[in-house]
Amino acid sequence: MNFHIATLPGDGIGPEVVAQAVKVLEAIGQKFGHTFDFQYSPVGAVAIDETGEPFPEETFQNCFHAAAVLFGAIGDPKYDNDPKAKVRPEQGLLKMRKKLGLYANIRPVTTFPALIHKSPLRADLVEGADLVVIRELTGGIYFGEPRGRSEDLTTAFDTCVYTRAEIERIVKLGFEYAAKRRKKMTLVDKANVLETSKLWRETVQDMAKDYPDIELDYMFVDNAAMQLIQYPRQFDVIVTENMFGDILSDESSVITGSLGLLPSASIGLHTSVFEPIHGSYPQAAGKNIANPVATVLSAALMLEMSFNLLEEGNTIRAAVDASMLAQAVTVDIATDKEKAYSTSDVGDWLAAYIKN
Ligand code: IPM
Ligand code: MN
Repeated sequence: MNFHIATLPGDGIGPEVVAQAVKVLEAIGQKFGHTFDFQYSPVGAVAIDETGEPFPEETFQNCFHAAAVLFGAIGDPKYDNDPKAKVRPEQGLLKMRKKLGLYANIRPVTTFPALIHKSPLRADLVEGADLVVIRELTGGIYFGEPRGRSEDLTTAFDTCVYTRAEIERIVKLGFEYAAKRRKKMTLVDKANVLETSKLWRETVQDMAKDYPDIELDYMFVDNAAMQLIQYPRQFDVIVTENMFGDILSDESSVITGSLGLLPSASIGLHTSVFEPIHGSYPQAAGKNIANPVATVLSAALMLEMSFNLLEEGNTIRAAVDASMLAQAVTVDIATDKEKAYSTSDVGDWLAAYIKN
């Protein structure tokens, strides 16, 4: 079959890591008889430089008409210390989420036994941790109106808004994920304080009747932040609103020591987007040292979730496991730093492994 993939490398190391995922997908195409047609579009700081817009209309059209979107990273330090900048690369990401209706961000967090020693936590705490954070992505305080400043600019406000329908669709996804996994779902909220959180909790309580096999747990977000580092194995599926999910998904992605390896999917009303969890890592841009595995595994998720190519996705995962055993890995995770592979060498190794 032929699949049209909107390919958005973005900023920083984005282009280097996306190039490896493309290589790996091409190898999969050869082995399994598929063709992937990669149509490139700018997003983020590169798009601002080219067009003045972080998510130009043409990029949107490409994504909208594609079977899936492969995304690198967004963000450039030249914008970071300028809170007054009129356009920021991150706006491109928010616009993409809203325009594609990407209401759920799914981040699986798994441990790689070979990398446990990179975890900031004790190995005995984190060994075997296997959880998914499902973050609501198009609502809450990120998008609520009104937002702004008082006339004299000395007061600022943001609004957190959720409708029952927005909560229901993502909670449904959470229950369905839990049903396919260890059958446990934790709703993270701040229902002891926030009205929106109370609505989340009420909605989940009502829906729970339809999912009697799922063990349901509620946790306030401050406690969840503690529990994640004290006892990460207790979690299976975490469902939470946009802002809490932003923070907790970053926290959960570092506990296993494998930040450079974790993929993510954003799904919703139109085309789904697949991207590594890590950011644009500008310090490494252009040096051919960044770890491409998170993006390669995002491509595996894309094959499985958007194209239903399960064997193909597993083939990528098996190649990644083999590359770790063979130490065909980048400097961030190489045991012997002297023998570390470059970004493009890892991509070549994976592609060759898949073809043979
Ligand atoms: C993320 C990022 C974005 C967010 C920023 C860049 C707008 O941190 O994808 O988690 O806060 O959602
Ligand atoms: Mn974030």
